Amino acid sequence: MAKRPRIAVVGSANIDLTTFTNRFPKPGETIFGDSFDLGFGGKGANQATACRLCGADVFMIARVGSDLFGPATIENFKRLGIDTTHVKQLEGVSSGVAPIFVEPSGQNRIFVVKGANDRLMPADVDAAADLLKTVDCMVLQFEIPLETVYYSVRFAHANGIRCIVNPAPAAPVDLKALTGLDYFVPNESEAETITGMPVRNLEDAKKCAQTLLSGGVKRVIITLGANGSLLAGHEGMEHIPAFQVKSVDSTGAGDAFIGSFAVFLGEGLPEREAVRRANLYAGLSTTGVGTQKSFYDRVRYDAEWAKRAAA
Ligand code: RIB
Repeated sequence: MAKRPRIAVVGSANIDLTTFTNRFPKPGETIFGDSFDLGFGGKGANQATACRLCGADVFMIARVGSDLFGPATIENFKRLGIDTTHVKQLEGVSSGVAPIFVEPSGQNRIFVVKGANDRLMPADVDAAADLLKTVDCMVLQFEIPLETVYYSVRFAHANGIRCIVNPAPAAPVDLKALTGLDYFVPNESEAETITGMPVRNLEDAKKCAQTLLSGGVKRVIITLGANGSLLAGHEGMEHIPAFQVKSVDSTGAGDAFIGSFAVFLGEGLPEREAVRRANLYAGLSTTGVGTQKSFYDRVRYDAEWAKRAAA
């Protein structure tokens, strides 16, 4: 039987307010949206949820606001079986929220108001240090202060803990501050923003990955949506294709990839195989509406994997 990974997510939690629409209003115009969905989101919380649904023991390090979303978010983590010892509600600040707009093709546009997520500080990582030293993997994103991301990467490195950073939403990065990082996992547009290099095709993605690798991280995975992923290391690169799915909402697909990849890797799969399986997990998440609620649990996922792998 596969090892049960212990994964800590140092990251964000948002409430997602998703409108499905045919088009966007022009300035000064009011139009009707088609439908609306309210759900738990945030890149950190989504990745924690994917880890948990794939079967890991999961520990969330996060901050929520003093509004009605704060306690609801903590309750949601508990319902999923995610440890909330280090999820704290802060007074006088809002929870993170994300107004999201999804087009009929499944493509999304997202605003994030960081709220309490912006108050997760290096001292909070120190406060969780005893717990963090017991995990196999730490997972981070960019919806919390960058100084906390850099600090956590150094903490993971110093303690021999595998670390995955998803630079989303994209922000200028000091790659030197990530030296020794195990996995840096942007999507195409994040890779473009961070390097200033266009990513229009696989060849572009390879050049971009090379630039990121020369900054000092050990591995780069550029997720390419319906085109799968590029796995790049100092010894070479490999394109790993996606599986075909009928996509209705791609929101959270990157989070599904990261969370499931952390689990597959933690179970001891070779990284190429972990990427392949995470490609499927992410693809399946786009076949349902919303973020966390579109993620498959392990039983459903394994059944789908068995069908696809045998095909
Ligand atoms: O990656 C999807 C997530 O981005 C949404 O859940 C939203 O909250 C934003 O953080």
